[in-house]
Amino acid sequence: MSNSQKILFVASEAYPLIKTGGLGDVAGSLPAALKTLKQDVCIIMPAYREILQKVTGLTLISIHAEGVPETVRLLEGRFPGTSVKLLLVDSPHHFDRQGGPYLDAEGEDWTDNAERFATFAKTVSAVALNQTGLDWQPDVVHCNDWQCGLIPALLSLHPKRPATVFTIHNLAYHGYFHPDTFITLDLPKQLWGMHGLEFHGGLSFIKGGLAYADMINTVSPTYAKEIRSQALGYGLEGLLNYRAKRLTGILNGIDYKEWNPATDPHLAAPFNHRDLSGKALNKQALQQQFGLPQRANTPLFGLVGRLVEQKGIDLVLAIIPQLIAQNAQLVVLGSGDKRFQQSLLDIAAAHPYSVAVHIGYNEPLAHQIEAGADIFLMPSRFEPCGLNQIYSLRYGTVPIVRHTGGLADTVVDANEINIAAGSATGFQFETSTSDGLWTASQRAIQLYHTQPKVWQQLMVSGMKQDFSWKQSARHYLTLYEHAIQHRNDDVADMNRLAPVQAVPEWPL
Ligand code: ADP
Ligand code: GLC
Repeated sequence: MSNSQKILFVASEAYPLIKTGGLGDVAGSLPAALKTLKQDVCIIMPAYREILQKVTGLTLISIHAEGVPETVRLLEGRFPGTSVKLLLVDSPHHFDRQGGPYLDAEGEDWTDNAERFATFAKTVSAVALNQTGLDWQPDVVHCNDWQCGLIPALLSLHPKRPATVFTIHNLAYHGYFHPDTFITLDLPKQLWGMHGLEFHGGLSFIKGGLAYADMINTVSPTYAKEIRSQALGYGLEGLLNYRAKRLTGILNGIDYKEWNPATDPHLAAPFNHRDLSGKALNKQALQQQFGLPQRANTPLFGLVGRLVEQKGIDLVLAIIPQLIAQNAQLVVLGSGDKRFQQSLLDIAAAHPYSVAVHIGYNEPLAHQIEAGADIFLMPSRFEPCGLNQIYSLRYGTVPIVRHTGGLADTVVDANEINIAAGSATGFQFETSTSDGLWTASQRAIQLYHTQPKVWQQLMVSGMKQDFSWKQSARHYLTLYEHAIQHRNDDVADMNRLAPVQAVPEWPL
């Protein structure tokens, strides 16, 4: 795309301001990559307490927009480390509180999540329609995940609206609420119904994105196909198939400044694909930090991630005895389901020389594991993209992944053909079973011990891959162009046709 577009990038988390997972990484790096491509980008997020404590120099903007509570204000500043404009939706009652962006201190969903993200969506819509006195109307509003789902729906009712793009980072999370919520949120009645926000009788935020956005994408080409099937469509496959011409997959990039083993400030020693000597020092430091015996020739497995069903943690738990029997070591960093946390802690307590576990969220430690481990485990049941396996590739840590979603799109299996071709970067397995994972792990352990040259070739091939945002950000520009074309067509239709749909009665 040649012209500069005005892009309003909407997200419920963005690193380094606030992050719970990969969405935070993407929202923290894609806008800057778009800016490098000379786009006029502004990122808008909720003004969580954690963000207010981190960002200084914010300007306050009072807004008086229809449908937006008077207590809501906008704060304007710069996204840290970039020249990207930052807007914060300041609704203290909803966002200025102790706890995570979606969960309270006990790990439960905030009970007012529907109200919190509906207020966010209404405010973002007002900004998108240039109703908040900012004198800036975006050409495209780029929404991410269910927290932004109402925005394309609300905007669809306005003939002078910007184009909308909705990115699915994880279709497993719908933002699904009791049908009465539709009334309490005071949403426009036209949006109710099976072609709208209703899903199995309830209110689905994500459906707002899927049904109304001009273009939809997921974060890898394979996941874009998978979600059109019953197995991974979560009941939304019908709608996604109906909108298949508007659905595409764009592989995530990673922030090459943040994740660079040659300059990473968290590492014990720098390294790169030409000089891997620092990698051994990082392994030693990691073993020391986790209280594991410092053995250079023991395969050290690493895992970083949310400890939830999606990530196949149960499969990892199932193969730990075999890993121990093979004299391998394992370090785990993560938090999530209490039962997974406890099982991991129990195994670590029983085998302190083989397994070490850190429960919690720790950004530097995530970098240290990526740098110090030999092998990274990512046996996800499904994985829209996955960033950790990409970080692993960049850090010369050979990933073992299940053949699904973005894992299938980023890791090249070390079979004989790929090894001979020099393209292998990791290990894949098909079936979501502990046997599948163990077979792949055995292949890795064997290659590690018996063919050090080939092993090094895997490491170097992975490190040389280009997963920077350069390519992917360009794909997003093309997606924005398509969205604008479709918006133009749809608005033309809207103007040509008189309103045809009777407003459904409530309650239905
Ligand atoms: P998902 O978004 O499904 O959690 P991704 O692989 O896309 O999975 O991204 C996860 C991101 O969150 C990575 O940047 C990873 O390093 C980070 N992460 C996950 N759990 C932790 C943790 N306990 N401590 C530090 N970083 C974590
Ligand atoms: C989601 C997905 C993960 C993806 C991330 C960023 O959290 O689970 O696979 O990498 O979003 O798009």
